[in-house]
Amino acid sequence: MCGIFCLLSLSSAHSEWDKTVYEHLKRRGPCSSQDLTVIGTNHCYQCLFSAHVLHMRGLLTPQPAQDSAGNILLWNGEIFGGLPVRSEENDTAVISQQLSSCNSPSEILAVLSAIQGPWGFVYYQKEGEYLWFGRDFFGRRSLLWKFDAEVSALTLTSVAAHVSEPDQCNWQEVPAASVYRIDLKAATEAGSLSVEIYPWAHAGNDVISCCSEKILESVPCGCNTLMNQAGLVLTSPVCPLNMSIPESLNRTEIHSTSHLSVEDLEELLGSKEQTDEVNRLIDVLSEAVRRRVQSLPSGLQDSPLANDQASVAILFSGGIDSMVLAALADRHVPAHQPIDLLNVAFKLQEPKKQNECAKKPKNKPTESRTDCADSPTFSPFDVPDRITGKNGLKELQDLNPERRWNFVEINVTQAELQKMRMERICHLVHPLETVLDDSIGCAVWFAARGTGFIMEDSDQRPFTSSAKVILTGIGADEQLAGYSRHRVRFKTSGHEGLIQELAMELGRISSRNLGRDDRVIGDHGKEARFPYLDEEVVSYLNSLPVWEKADLSLPRGVGEKLLLRLTAKQLGLSQSAVLPKRAMQFGSRIAKMEDSREKASDKCTRLLTG
Ligand SMILES: *[C@@H]1O[C@H](CO)[C@@H](O)[C@H](O)[C@H]1NC(C)=O
Ligand SMILES: *[C@@H]1O[C@H](CO)[C@@H](O)[C@H](O)[C@H]1NC(C)=O
Ligand SMILES: *[C@@H]1O[C@H](CO)[C@@H](O)[C@H](O)[C@H]1NC(C)=O
Ligand SMILES: *[C@@H]1O[C@H](CO)[C@@H](O)[C@H](O)[C@H]1NC(C)=O
Repeated sequence: MCGIFCLLSLSSAHSEWDKTVYEHLKRRGPCSSQDLTVIGTNHCYQCLFSAHVLHMRGLLTPQPAQDSAGNILLWNGEIFGGLPVRSEENDTAVISQQLSSCNSPSEILAVLSAIQGPWGFVYYQKEGEYLWFGRDFFGRRSLLWKFDAEVSALTLTSVAAHVSEPDQCNWQEVPAASVYRIDLKAATEAGSLSVEIYPWAHAGNDVISCCSEKILESVPCGCNTLMNQAGLVLTSPVCPLNMSIPESLNRTEIHSTSHLSVEDLEELLGSKEQTDEVNRLIDVLSEAVRRRVQSLPSGLQDSPLANDQASVAILFSGGIDSMVLAALADRHVPAHQPIDLLNVAFKLQEPKKQNECAKKPKNKPTESRTDCADSPTFSPFDVPDRITGKNGLKELQDLNPERRWNFVEINVTQAELQKMRMERICHLVHPLETVLDDSIGCAVWFAARGTGFIMEDSDQRPFTSSAKVILTGIGADEQLAGYSRHRVRFKTSGHEGLIQELAMELGRISSRNLGRDDRVIGDHGKEARFPYLDEEVVSYLNSLPVWEKADLSLPRGVGEKLLLRLTAKQLGLSQSAVLPKRAMQFGSRIAKMEDSREKASDKCTRLLTG
């Protein structure tokens, strides 16, 4: 993960750039920092490029990368497929070479379309004087933009800074729906900025209208946008979603949501047939994990401790998404290396009144019981995700007793939460701003930092994960109907409604989650990787009809993400295969620390710095 930044000034007025942003970028790329300024022909514009590299593979390649023709590349990405990169090669150099040989826009688009993996980039094409920028199809890397009309300056950056007094020109996420090009000569002649749109599209689809709508919402004020005149598009790296609905609309009995025991759920899951689909999903997902955990620098490469250090960590709640990732990582991470399981918990308040507990309905699942301190000693960090995490750890130890699984208990108090939110997290979540963004941003930041305790010979030992790669399970719920809103939609509008919901979710995952999570995790000089959003995995899941992926007539804990549950069972997992979805803000109990009356979509006042 790298921090990239570009400041394009169209006037001679020198625009200052914010030193806090510089510091934030440096935390993303601690291995090398360099700046480079380009002055346009006739001094009519100026581009400042700043790049901060986190070294992941090959030889360290400082950026900005400038080729012999004077083209400049800022690359924040990983190539996992599509273009050949040998393990000793650096992918920045590979992309730079590929782009150097491009003469026309369609050739540039062909290179970008071919890449499998996450990326955000800025490319200065010397010949013709163009500035290209954009993000991969899913938007797995952050890129923000802002236009300051007063000094005619456009800024692009991986991460920004929250300011307490916002002016009219605010940061926005660059929409992942498209790649963009600015004709610098034309812009200086016109004295205004026009951004050409090159949208992502499925072969043969007319996306132009819907895509520009999305983009227009997020264009910085003062900039114009226009569709590229040749009507060029980037070919989508995944196949379109299968829209089939079952032929015979059998009146399916929707099971009552009454609580079934884990054993009932396991039995129900066991009665489902193992299918070819399960084996095929294991193949593609396993390969996606392999590409993301191999040829990594381990924590301390040249030290005698190297074998003790994990190079891979997993955001770990013990839920099915993270359990499947852990089971597959176990296949590909060298046997002598530990795997770090990062488990975050926010401190529960000691229950004050005993009768609060008595009021709660008795038949609720385990989570409500823990609040009420049934056990004689109240343990304030035994939040739901900690409990499922510990159970998950046991399952993984059974699966591979030889592996060292570092279950990292990350306990966060309210004081520390408030301190780090003000110091760091509010800048990283920005420009997102809801209560939900705050909760998830904070939970992910503390988890990814990896500082906590591990148990060693029944003693707690302070521990900090040194793994630079963090796998996250994001994308599983969106594709396999894991959210409760999927059930609601299915109940009201059947398979058709469910399919529409799924199509919409994958389309907005970049602006909802991915940019934010990339900024938050990157802040630790670590890199987030998303196996469920691998191009091959998404293509495979997209090709399946919806009823192979989920059966929402079955109860919670089985019906949603049914295909993944069957996969988990096939991989040898047991109880975790039937855990119902629990959102991170509730599982980690961060939501409990704050005002419980606020809505997830409300603007979060805690993110506003004083
Ligand atoms: C990156 O790789 C290219 C070849 O792929 C090589 O020429 C270049 O020297 C490498 N960069 C560094 C800093 O070693
Ligand atoms: C609907 O019911 C019929 C008869 O029971 C069965 O053959 C068919 O496979 C069912 N269709 C679906 C989509 O479940
Ligand atoms: C962290 O929380 C766990 C509960 O899951 C508890 O057992 C442990 O003692 C806590 N560690 C510290 C250092 O507070
Ligand atoms: C969608 O799924 C159905 C049922 O399995 C299959 O027949 C069809 O070929 C699939 N369509 C696409 C476009 O993959």
